[in-house]
Amino acid sequence: MKLLALALLVAFSAQAQQPLAATGRWQHQPVGSAPTPPMGWSSWNAFRVDITEAKVLASAQVIVDSGLAGAGYRSINIDDGWWLKRRADDGRLQVRTGLFPSAATGKDSSLRPFTDRIHAMGLKAGLYTDIGRNACSQAYDADSPNLPEGTAAEREVGLMGFMRQDVALFFGEWNFDYLKVDGCGLSSYGRDRPHVASGQYREYPPTIVEGNINQSDVEGTKKLYTGLKQALHDVRPRGDYVLSVCLWGTVNVRSWGQDAGTMWRTSRDIANSFSQMVHNFDSVATREFYAGPGRWNDPDMLEIGNGDFDSSHLLEARTHMGLWAIAAAPLMIGTDLSKVSPAVIDILKAPEVVAINQDAAGHQGVIAYADSDRQILVKTLADGRKAVLLFNRTGSPAKFTLTAEHLKMDATAPIALRDAWARADVGTFTGQREFELQAREALLFTASGKHLLPRGYFVSERPGNVYVARDGIKALEQDPVAYRSLASWGTTDNGGTRPAYAGWGGPRADSTPYDQALSVQRQAFRHGIGVLADSRLQVQLAPGSQRFSARVGVDDSTRGKTAAVSFEVWGDGRRLAATAPMKFNQPARDLSADLRGVKLIELIARQHGTDTAGPVVVTWGEARIE
Ligand code: GLA
Repeated sequence: MKLLALALLVAFSAQAQQPLAATGRWQHQPVGSAPTPPMGWSSWNAFRVDITEAKVLASAQVIVDSGLAGAGYRSINIDDGWWLKRRADDGRLQVRTGLFPSAATGKDSSLRPFTDRIHAMGLKAGLYTDIGRNACSQAYDADSPNLPEGTAAEREVGLMGFMRQDVALFFGEWNFDYLKVDGCGLSSYGRDRPHVASGQYREYPPTIVEGNINQSDVEGTKKLYTGLKQALHDVRPRGDYVLSVCLWGTVNVRSWGQDAGTMWRTSRDIANSFSQMVHNFDSVATREFYAGPGRWNDPDMLEIGNGDFDSSHLLEARTHMGLWAIAAAPLMIGTDLSKVSPAVIDILKAPEVVAINQDAAGHQGVIAYADSDRQILVKTLADGRKAVLLFNRTGSPAKFTLTAEHLKMDATAPIALRDAWARADVGTFTGQREFELQAREALLFTASGKHLLPRGYFVSERPGNVYVARDGIKALEQDPVAYRSLASWGTTDNGGTRPAYAGWGGPRADSTPYDQALSVQRQAFRHGIGVLADSRLQVQLAPGSQRFSARVGVDDSTRGKTAAVSFEVWGDGRRLAATAPMKFNQPARDLSADLRGVKLIELIARQHGTDTAGPVVVTWGEARIE
């Protein structure tokens, strides 16, 4: 009975949604400060828990000497493995000074000498902790000699119960600039785990169940992280920090991460294998409306320099880099830079590739074409050019046709392409151009041409201007588009842990929320927004915006075919235009609104009555601002 009550509570709380009513003010409040995707280096993919201060500093020195710092990689982040214990009498965290000698400052070990050193190099410093009582290494690197020591209580080095104290220590006393906060304390200390059963660690009944969104406590986890956000803000009110939420795409963090952190992981850990890298990319590729300046989808740290992306696999290394660039993903180097070849450093530094990632407009690339083998993604840049990536996912050569329509450019006017890797203009084309890509290759260009809307833009071209205030999802479902792989690092002698990332049904650019082509009463729309009914999307406008227009209706792919939906456009909190309730299989209607003087519009699709057949899918066809 108790279990049932808990299950109901969890299922119910998973549905918490913001109100449908327009608020008239941009609701995203940045956490910390990262107008462009954070860049730096982290110890984890290079060393796991075998870190030493010397290894970290050696990579930091290469960051400076090789010009990587100049290219933007400035945050030097210590990941798991730095701690010795939590002191019994006052709860103060002790540093493992055997590994970090400069921290041996007397009775109170301190990482301040380390951060001072990093800051003196012109860099920023990052640290790692866990939102629960214990960290990931304590559950997954049980054989490491570098795990926290002492009693079970002394080994509780995570934030739980000590949040304000630890945050004050990390950001006040120790002066860090960046904090990555993992969630193993919430997921990996159930009573059945060997490290708990043995009495080594205190039990924490899991509130995150990897691979099972319905067993995970979404609201409870969100509350812990928003508490952390507040604690950090109190210590650093100027907001000069990055908070990296590490929940591996679980507990629907792909939807609420933007309200709790500067960046949030959208999938399980990356590994240095091509297939795992692609899996992580897939977990961000459909989340274009959730990122923008100050808030970034995080497919995890780079593996460039390692395994399938090492000096003998420079093509794969470029592909990995190109994918992270087009996705506006944080760029955290994860290799031992003291050992890496100059060719790998050149890939990480490639100025025109990094510039695409760091573009000031902060739009994530949008999928313009995708089948199982080939993808084309297009990212609108601040100066109106487009970055375009062609990606051959397969192990054999593949043919691509890039069209003006992919770029939302005029098919009758010339389009100039520039190769971002070669840093060279590679000619112009009109209409379309053919390419043949090698196995696993990704080409990355910038394109200049006449836009389809010469005096405006489709909302789907600028996803970073959109905030999903309410997605309309009523029951969380697993996203089948991020390929549901078993972990490539796992053994095959068991059933495997399958990932399950919620967020399926969230709004999409140029696609329905369920990855179908947009269409209303058989009229297809190549451009537009697909979303569920009972949703509210906020769109920031550039000064001088005159008119919003769209062709709206219930999408042909809808599961719920009986409920009616009305479409409303609100400007700065005032209703500007609306349709009468519309039903499935009725033709799309024109909806337009005068935007003069308006700063923010809200697009509301309001459902009338329930639909027992399922969610009602709606289309804002050709939604545009002119
Ligand atoms: C988790 C995180 C990784 C890394 C390790 C450290 O697995 O997802 O990025 O921080 O913990 O133990």
